[in-house]
Amino acid sequence: MKTRITELFGIEHPIIQGGMHFVGFAEMAAAVSNAGGLGIITGLTQRTPDDLAKEIARCREMTDKPFGVNLTFLPSVNQPDYPGYVKAIVDGGVKAVETAGNNPAKWLPGLKEAGIKVIHKCTSVRHSLKAEAIGCDAVSVDGFECGGHPGEDDVPNFILLPRAAEELKIPFVASGGMADARSLVAALAMGAEGMNMGTRFIATREAPVHENVKLAIVAASELDTRLVMRPLRNTERVLTNAAVERLLEKEKALGPNIKFEDIIEEVAGVYPRIMMDGEMEAGAWSCGMVAGLIHDIPTCKELIDGIMSEAERIIRGRLEGFLAA
Ligand SMILES: Cc1cc2nc3c(=O)[nH]c(=O)nc-3n(C[C@H](O)[C@H](O)[C@H](O)COP(=O)(O)O)c2cc1C
Repeated sequence: MKTRITELFGIEHPIIQGGMHFVGFAEMAAAVSNAGGLGIITGLTQRTPDDLAKEIARCREMTDKPFGVNLTFLPSVNQPDYPGYVKAIVDGGVKAVETAGNNPAKWLPGLKEAGIKVIHKCTSVRHSLKAEAIGCDAVSVDGFECGGHPGEDDVPNFILLPRAAEELKIPFVASGGMADARSLVAALAMGAEGMNMGTRFIATREAPVHENVKLAIVAASELDTRLVMRPLRNTERVLTNAAVERLLEKEKALGPNIKFEDIIEEVAGVYPRIMMDGEMEAGAWSCGMVAGLIHDIPTCKELIDGIMSEAERIIRGRLEGFLAA
């Protein structure tokens, strides 16, 4: 399949694996890229720019296909060494960057000068237009269904994607709730030129996370995610567990007076315990409603090949069939 997204990133299939904290290691990114998609290493999971440089080098040993790095701009007091991370990306010869979390304008000149294509992840049309205006090459439009941070507007993809198509000139991919060929064909129909998946890629053989995480996603239904940290205007969609229910009780009890410190036990330092050690009750971890559509743990190649062949069957068979009738 050829779209402006496959052309932009030099990939075979219009499928991107979104940056994921403590999931987006070299093994994940390489597996997706080797399967013809765009794999993404999560920059900030690497503790230092030097560690990121090593992770990029490791990924390059595992694939000769294009892959990218995610740079998430967090509203934190102790700012990560962003100039250092950007330098590691540029020096590592990476040609695609997924930015998220905040306006990436400050970093664009350096990235563009190095010939890097930038796709910015946004949860609204207004932020997508901003990304276009500042010179991003593409946008990943992240609907309310998504795992991770859906923003505060709560617009699901059935509205958000066609709205983005009405306004944007640069290409965009659909993100949030994407799992299979039906997602891809629907996203294309609504104006996207590909799709970005997070949760779906965690439940793959190559995802370098504890088996418990994959099994939890397969076991979960579309009813099993919760929105946490809404009172802090840092909403995150997570898979429910005892820690998440405790966190929500605190939010209810403390109301608008809640502070980050009140929920620190449920959210801080949770990712390595969940993703590496498989301690599934350790705290709140991002997961999309799309878990309800995930019933197996294929290889990335099986997943992507299956999506592409089924997409063709849907377009040429089911959709064409309706017209013929
Ligand atoms: C476990 C997990 C961790 C994530 N970590 C990040 C992150 O560090 N930075 C980021 O930009 N997005 C992050 N995301 C969001 C994904 O990149 C992607 O946008 C989202 O998962 C899409 O929704 P889906 O899960 O319904 O496919 C994360 C998602 C998950 C499930």
